[in-house]
Amino acid sequence: MFPQEIIRKKRDGHTLSPEEIKFFIKGVVDGGFADIQTAAMTMAMFLNGLNQDETVALTMAMRDSGETLHWRLNGPVIDKHSTGGVGDKVSLMLAPILAACGGYVPMIAGRGLGHTGGTLDKLDSIPGYDTSADNETFKQTVAEVGCAIIGQTGNLAPADKKIYAIRDVCGTVESIPLITASILSKKLAAGLEYLVMDLKCGRGAFMEDEENAKKLAECIVATANDAGTQTTAVVTDMNAVLGSTVGNALEVCEAVEYLQNKNINPRLDKVTKVLCAEILTSCGLYQTHEKAEQAVAAALSSGRALEKFAQMVCMLGGPADFAEKPAFYLPHAQISRPVFAQERGYVESMSTRDIGMLLVGLKGGRTHPDQKLDYATGFSSFCQIGDYVDEHTPLAYVHAQNEEEFNEAAYELKRLIKIGAEKISTPVVLCKVS
Ligand code: URA
Repeated sequence: MFPQEIIRKKRDGHTLSPEEIKFFIKGVVDGGFADIQTAAMTMAMFLNGLNQDETVALTMAMRDSGETLHWRLNGPVIDKHSTGGVGDKVSLMLAPILAACGGYVPMIAGRGLGHTGGTLDKLDSIPGYDTSADNETFKQTVAEVGCAIIGQTGNLAPADKKIYAIRDVCGTVESIPLITASILSKKLAAGLEYLVMDLKCGRGAFMEDEENAKKLAECIVATANDAGTQTTAVVTDMNAVLGSTVGNALEVCEAVEYLQNKNINPRLDKVTKVLCAEILTSCGLYQTHEKAEQAVAAALSSGRALEKFAQMVCMLGGPADFAEKPAFYLPHAQISRPVFAQERGYVESMSTRDIGMLLVGLKGGRTHPDQKLDYATGFSSFCQIGDYVDEHTPLAYVHAQNEEEFNEAAYELKRLIKIGAEKISTPVVLCKVS
């Protein structure tokens, strides 16, 4: 087999065999495919697509391109993956809730990408927490606590790491089969038995319209199930910031307060509980959604989920009492002031993607890969669609390190949130795919 022959075959719209796909992925990892050939291949795949068998073969070859984890635990190995949004801190609450309900959650999370925040960046704002812990610590934390969240280790799905970096700079990110194989290769290499996908859809998501989000959900569900991991998906709204905060340390604080049963944002609460109930029933720990919802409510009200979070943070190097006083440990910005709308009325819509980019402007997200983040900046008390705002009720508090950055973010925020005369409400859970 020769790289150029396989590239030509896909370029001309033919179907690749599993052997050809394996040859491609082996070449990506061992150098048999040069980066320019990988780029050409991803473009051929982007333009001509992959059928279901090819998508499964690509996913499995990428999964097997490095180490794969295997677990022997006293409960199901489960996880959730979100396609990314603004203010999405669901993983921080969901992992300890699931652990408190009897599941084991070995979560391999990612950094922020473009306008979307990343779970790893949020956790990096906790002093001492080691998001690049070695496999032994990761496995021990999952076994003892029931959950651990770390980053992709060097040898977990290395083909995805390489291909993703090439897609990112070659205009081949937005392809349903390539996204499917990329997401699932990492999740499946972590040895999951059950997975629930949170497919974000709307102005703050990679998939803006519901039809495409559903198509991606269907592709991921079918591929994961064919590859041996039982998977369902929920399509959720990302036309508004999720929760009351945007920004790394601020989001960790909101997540801990949620686990402490304080300051509960209704939309964040709904998404978290629906995803928890979905995976807890699909893995068989609970027979019905109702029973799973009751278990989730009990894990929260009893403080068991908070305890799991505290144990996870401690085992991964963070302060033992972090969950008791997160504000004491997390960094704070120099300035934290409210920003008010120019007119009174109801919040009608927001440019969620651009709000995500405002965080990048405040240095809470990256403009180049090696950038060190400012974990303290962002927004809190963020208004929700349908909220009434006036000269007493702010759009949000802006957390910035200097007057110039505060003024810039405040000016933009007023421009990005549209105020209207009528109170509207929009659903946050749009549909399920199984
Ligand atoms: N997230 C991933 O991990 N891969 C993609 O291709 C897109 C989003």
